[in-house]
Amino acid sequence: MYQFNLHQRISRLCTQEGLSVSGDDLHFYTRLSANATAIDSLYQSLYSNHLMADALFEKLVLTLIHNHQQRSAALRKRDLDKVSKGAWFLSNEIGGMSLYVDRFCGTLQQLPEKLSYLESLGINFLHLMPVFESPEGESDGGYAVSDFRKVDKRFGTLEDLRAVQKKMQDKEMYLMLDIVLNHTSHHHEWAVKARNGDPVYQEYFYMYDDRTLPDQFDATMPEIFPESAPGSFTWCKEANKWVMTVFHQYQWDLNYTNPAVFIDMLDTILFYANLGVDILRIDAPAFIWKQLGTTCQNLPQAHDILRLIRQCVEVSAPGMALLGEAIVAPKEIMKYFGTDLYTARECDVAYNATQMALQWDALATGDTRVMLAAQQDLLQKPYGCTWISYTRCHDDIGLGFEDSSIAAAGFNAYEHRKFLKDYYSGVHPGSPASGALFSVNPKTQDARISGSLASLCGLEKALESGNQSLIDIAVKKILLMQAQSFFVGGIPMLFYGDEAAYTNDYSYLNDPGKSYDNRWMHRPLIDWKKNQKTKEAGTIEHRIFSGTQKLLKLRKQLPVTADHKNIRWITPHNIHVSGFIRSLGDDHLYCLFNFSNKAAYLTWYAFKEQGYQIENLYDHWNEKRYSVGADYEYLIIEPHSFCLLAAEKKS
Ligand code: GLC
Repeated sequence: MYQFNLHQRISRLCTQEGLSVSGDDLHFYTRLSANATAIDSLYQSLYSNHLMADALFEKLVLTLIHNHQQRSAALRKRDLDKVSKGAWFLSNEIGGMSLYVDRFCGTLQQLPEKLSYLESLGINFLHLMPVFESPEGESDGGYAVSDFRKVDKRFGTLEDLRAVQKKMQDKEMYLMLDIVLNHTSHHHEWAVKARNGDPVYQEYFYMYDDRTLPDQFDATMPEIFPESAPGSFTWCKEANKWVMTVFHQYQWDLNYTNPAVFIDMLDTILFYANLGVDILRIDAPAFIWKQLGTTCQNLPQAHDILRLIRQCVEVSAPGMALLGEAIVAPKEIMKYFGTDLYTARECDVAYNATQMALQWDALATGDTRVMLAAQQDLLQKPYGCTWISYTRCHDDIGLGFEDSSIAAAGFNAYEHRKFLKDYYSGVHPGSPASGALFSVNPKTQDARISGSLASLCGLEKALESGNQSLIDIAVKKILLMQAQSFFVGGIPMLFYGDEAAYTNDYSYLNDPGKSYDNRWMHRPLIDWKKNQKTKEAGTIEHRIFSGTQKLLKLRKQLPVTADHKNIRWITPHNIHVSGFIRSLGDDHLYCLFNFSNKAAYLTWYAFKEQGYQIENLYDHWNEKRYSVGADYEYLIIEPHSFCLLAAEKKS
């Protein structure tokens, strides 16, 4: 559309909807005008061939206007505050936790009374796992949504959710919710209509009369859950059609080649923004565009959709940041931050799943070379965007780092991954880990890993054995893993239960709605009597909780840990130790992590060769001061220990 026509059209719609030319409306109008060209061109590149594209473009603009009009004064003020701070999510003062409301505390109504527990740990950012309506039993932990606007009665009501948000906002805590963009539950109203033959809603999904196209798709689409949901299509006998179901059979993929789907989902995104969401977690964005002959993952159009969402959010809810939950190869993940004209203008945040998996790699092998080799790719993250940094979450651990990183460390990729899978599933002789393989693909032997932080670090077996020194090792490993993820850059995101040393919970095996999915072993049901022990000195719960608390506190005290693309990896002349320097102006923090079960000796030369004139180093973790000695003298890092060393300048 010509600029002139576009702006004339937008201005007509704004007048028609009664927008004024002052105050917040003027801010909105300015943002809309500034982003109009980008919105129009992204929309056209996706939909110009669609018969309804032009009429629906007006609907898109109206969606932006109406959601702006519904945004509360408090949220508009918060938007301006956040915009004035710039990329607020880069801060070192944010500490997050991801939790299932029902498993953590019962209902949304009970959540506010648990906030002080979380605050005492240092948490000021909560990711509430899906709370919108989903069918019991067939919900994929809530990721099969049957109503995007109705809170599931298991958790409470929309009013309860609003009350939680208000309480969190009063406490200056941030909220993250999911938008499950790729699919709906087969019980969603659109799916029900499609099943009953409504042609309008059949266009909302990918539905086929016979196997011709499904077979062609299946030939190139990898299976996500090969054991529990093989293939990517499910027969719907009511509609007499095959439906695309990339994840589970009860999750129907939405058809984003239809602009009506995009606009309806955009309206939901802005509805969540108006609930006060600070960061919106876009679930599985890699999958949202399908094209025959491809893997149907990471396609350029998926990025265009994310960019279009980003531009629209910037217009109607500029304070809400976007997290793209793309768990993809290191080279692919960078693209979710945007490329070319859209660099740092797509997703603001992404999971650093590669770094997470690399930490598990180093913990199993005691060798940090694969981790180091992979940083070259990870350092490509553009300024202004950040990571979610984590060790565990509700999902499995995929070993998705590049074969080339494994080869660079001198290992054979197949054998190396086999070792990791054997180690964490406890099959490898002498492995201290208790985990399980998830989604084993019988054709390729690919598999991911399930298990809680504590169990994978050996606490479950150590407790069974009653051996105190094995317990101590497991505790050290847990803190080592958390420490590296908190200091490597990005928003630390704990998984609930990990702060209190929860080991695997095998009760999911007795629930037919869960038994086919071993990710439930690491999604604990919180027992508040156990969590009370986090306050009793000497207990394992207290050791983990207070260690985690100290790490989060240190991070908040050290501005150098904010994510300003200020990380430099070093080679500390010891393959068991990974290290990086976080710098801000003249402040430098050397972060060193010994992944081996032996003490590591680092000569002072490893520090001096970095070029900074340092005399003393203060270890914030161990609360020790070192004077930097001669090149042949050592700093000793205990087995599975770490140092957070602030450089003290020569005066
Ligand atoms: C995301 C979620 C995962 C879910 C999948 C399908 O990857 O994290 O738990 O199974 O999307 O919605």
